[in-house]
Amino acid sequence: MIHRVIRSPFTSEVNLRLRRLIDSFNLNLHRFVPLKSTLNAEGTEVSRFVNTVANNIRQYSYLEVGVHRGKTIEAIRANNRVAVDPKPLYLRRPSQGISTFKCTSDFYFENLQDGLFDFIYLDGLHHFRQTWKDLENATRAISEFGVILIDDVIPVDRFSAVIPQRSALTLRKKAGGKSGAWHGDVFKVLLMFSKLPDNFCFGTILFKQNPRAFLFARDGNWCTFPNFSLEEISEIDKVRVESVFGFNPERLIPREFNLFTPTEAQLLLSSHINAVS
Ligand SMILES: C[S@@+](CC[C@H](N)C(=O)[O-])C[C@H]1O[C@@H](n2cnc3c(N)ncnc32)[C@H](O)[C@@H]1O
Repeated sequence: MIHRVIRSPFTSEVNLRLRRLIDSFNLNLHRFVPLKSTLNAEGTEVSRFVNTVANNIRQYSYLEVGVHRGKTIEAIRANNRVAVDPKPLYLRRPSQGISTFKCTSDFYFENLQDGLFDFIYLDGLHHFRQTWKDLENATRAISEFGVILIDDVIPVDRFSAVIPQRSALTLRKKAGGKSGAWHGDVFKVLLMFSKLPDNFCFGTILFKQNPRAFLFARDGNWCTFPNFSLEEISEIDKVRVESVFGFNPERLIPREFNLFTPTEAQLLLSSHINAVS
């Protein structure tokens, strides 16, 4: 069996500099775990998926942007777990190996010198432009054969895609809806993906609860990730949710989003991530 040698995402010097910077901005760098676990034994759809994909890898590192109560990251079986969230809702206590950065993703990535993660899960602010920025940053922090996962790419109804979140919920309520679901306009990331060169592979995993997107570089060459112009990004930003999805009677997802069952996606991603010699 081939075992991967993983570079630690932080040299001690980078860690120290990041800490100093965060302190100087009066932000707290917490290392803590919940007093009592908020996690049920089985974790979440994403933690189960990542754990299965990475099953044959002895050592790997995982970054999650937007951790909320930590339900996913706590159940991830990576050697190195890093959490980034301006308002993580763990209870304060010294950590069991999750390095938590209490700051925005922008701040974290700006100060990250040479992070290398094998999985990056983007689940922060559900605005297309922010998610796209997170993604561009993630392409610089991912290891060669690493995989980026993105949450909330398929809205449940037209209200779910409205930003900001408050307006989405108000509009739905006015229309008689009760759900609190909010995906923002992250779906536009998938429209951008269709513009990527062929060495990038993307897809939409049809999880039961919430579909997610994945992206990897087939040849491990993340440096070829294009620098899209502001005009190109603005063009996509104008796309209306109704022109992409059919919400009646069910949410219909375009085939162009490359649809995968979780099992198909797991096989594809496992063989990709294990293709390191
Ligand atoms: C849907 S929750 C994340 C859930 C978590 N990934 C899980 O699986 O349990 C979204 C989180 O994103 C965080 N967030 C909002 N804006 C952010 C930003 N700019 N950078 C990083 N995280 C952000 C929020 O504080 C919130 O905790």
